[in-house]
Amino acid sequence: MKSIVCTTLGEPNLLEVKEVSLPSLGDDDVLVKVQAAGVNFPDALLVQGKYQIVIDPPFTPGNEVCGLIEDVGSNVNIPVGTKVIGLPPVGGFAEYVAVNKNLIIPVNDDFDSLAGASLPINYGTAYYALKRRAEASNGESLLVLGASGGIGTASIQLAKIMGLKTLCAVGSDEKEDYVKSLGADEIIRYDREPLKETVKELTNGLGVDIVMDPVGGDVSEQALRATAFNGRHLVIGFANGEIPKISLNLTLVKGVSIVGVWWGRWTNTSPKETAQDFSELVSFINDNKLKIVPNNVYKLEETPVALENFLNRKNIGKTVINI
Ligand SMILES: NC(=O)c1ccc[n+]([C@@H]2O[C@H](COP(=O)([O-])OP(=O)(O)OC[C@H]3O[C@@H](n4cnc5c(N)ncnc54)[C@H](OP(=O)(O)O)[C@@H]3O)[C@@H](O)[C@H]2O)c1
Repeated sequence: MKSIVCTTLGEPNLLEVKEVSLPSLGDDDVLVKVQAAGVNFPDALLVQGKYQIVIDPPFTPGNEVCGLIEDVGSNVNIPVGTKVIGLPPVGGFAEYVAVNKNLIIPVNDDFDSLAGASLPINYGTAYYALKRRAEASNGESLLVLGASGGIGTASIQLAKIMGLKTLCAVGSDEKEDYVKSLGADEIIRYDREPLKETVKELTNGLGVDIVMDPVGGDVSEQALRATAFNGRHLVIGFANGEIPKISLNLTLVKGVSIVGVWWGRWTNTSPKETAQDFSELVSFINDNKLKIVPNNVYKLEETPVALENFLNRKNIGKTVINI
């Protein structure tokens, strides 16, 4: 089968397309014939050796897929041919991948594969952050930093379903147009207007209830300073590359909570709750409340370009490899 292989940690252009043998199947695994694989910022960090988990090469990146079960291990009684969304630890950028039976979500045969491959990480993380970490409630306001990115896009769409008002911070005209197309309530051009003051203006001086922060760097503190009393600042990631250092007195004087969000870790410790969230996300799609249309669709051979876009701040919306 064809697979993208990282043989040396470094820039995405070092990745190679190789013919390799099918992955071996453990007793609890299913073999998925991959139709589409989601691409995420952490994939780019992983091949550079800069992610919080470092894997020794050779390995195939990619850890969200949608496809058909081709074979099953001896402890699995899911029928061959079932369509599934899967979360392999790695190996998704390939024609086949082995996935543990506890890390698959069966979906209907007509479930769109590109949407399926887009769902787990961005929508899983954003939903966990809003629902379980911020305990967001209808009518609250949400500031989304990096709003046109993968996490940002999912946050805007889920916020609308949850009845939150979205203030969307973006850094270019193209990104502004994209988040408008998703139904952003307010746009903040944080590349050219001061974030804190603009948020205050848009919230009648009160500040926002919740901040979704996948960006880090200087904008984190500005966003924290723009929160309302009892606000929650959700720490998702540091796409900007800089980890901000915040003075703790800010949390006291503003009565704000800084809340860490590590979705992948939580899925391991809370499988029942994870399954519940996935079932709600899939039902949003089946009930036409959520429509996921990836903005960038690449071929397997184009995986390096897809990854470079994240590192060059060019990614807009969801990126998927169509296999
Ligand atoms: N905590 C978790 O469980 C979890 C789960 C998934 C992902 N993450 C993390 O979330 C972060 C964002 O992931 P994503 O998939 O949303 O990435 P993305 O699609 O690239 O979006 C990141 C956004 O950050 C902004 N940004 C600001 N400075 C940047 C820079 N120097 N380089 C790149 N982007 C920059 C960009 O928007 P503007 O240009 O408009 O500023 C961009 O749209 C990553 O750090 C990822 O590791 C965490």
